[in-house]
Amino acid sequence: MPSPLPTIDAAEIRTATTDDIADLVAIEERCFSADKISRRQFRYLLTKARAVTLLFQDSGRMEGYATIFLNAKASLARVYSIAVLPDRRGKGIARRLALAGESLARAKGITRIRLEIRSDNTPSIALFRSLGYRPIKELKAYYEDGADGWRYEKNLSAADVGWRRASTHSGTP
Ligand SMILES: CC(C)(COP(=O)(O)OP(=O)(O)OC[C@H]1O[C@@H](n2cnc3c(N)ncnc32)[C@H](O)[C@@H]1OP(=O)(O)O)[C@@H](O)C(=O)NCCC(=O)NCCS
Repeated sequence: MPSPLPTIDAAEIRTATTDDIADLVAIEERCFSADKISRRQFRYLLTKARAVTLLFQDSGRMEGYATIFLNAKASLARVYSIAVLPDRRGKGIARRLALAGESLARAKGITRIRLEIRSDNTPSIALFRSLGYRPIKELKAYYEDGADGWRYEKNLSAADVGWRRASTHSGTP
């Protein structure tokens, strides 16, 4: 069976291992000013949690990642975190990571995927709305600094797939 993770030119999406923790922490440092995932938390996510961390890598350089919880029992996935290095944004990397995560979730029979986004995180809201995620619940004072957020959800069933222009851990961008 072909891998659900795409290869794009010299770029590829692959699953992270504990060897990638230093790079993941470096991305976190450059992408968030609060609610950052620590080295220890990444180790847990990569070894013990029911989660997958996908890396976007181009010519050997790690440029972005997404961590997704996959709960097949509850048929629910959750984008826990997604980030792309500032100088690599606007090139479709986060979209590819999110879609790869959705493919993995679908492959496990999962039918819904969620994430939480700060109300002031315009790029992330635009990204996930463009992928078909819809706001389902307002989250008052959800973040470390008291900021509000929204929970978004997408139905992964066949009628609501990926690329349509209709329409996370989520830290301070
Ligand atoms: C949010 C983030 C992951 C987006 O990464 P990215 O690789 O630049 O996003 P993409 O290039 O895949 O963008 C895909 C779509 O998202 C939307 N989008 C992304 N960035 C946007 C911006 N700055 N303004 C408006 N829309 C934006 C657009 O619809 C875009 O499609 P288009 O380029 O065809 O118009 C990135 O800005 C980031 O790392 N931010 C800091 C960390 C963060 O906030 N993570 C999310 C927590 S919930």
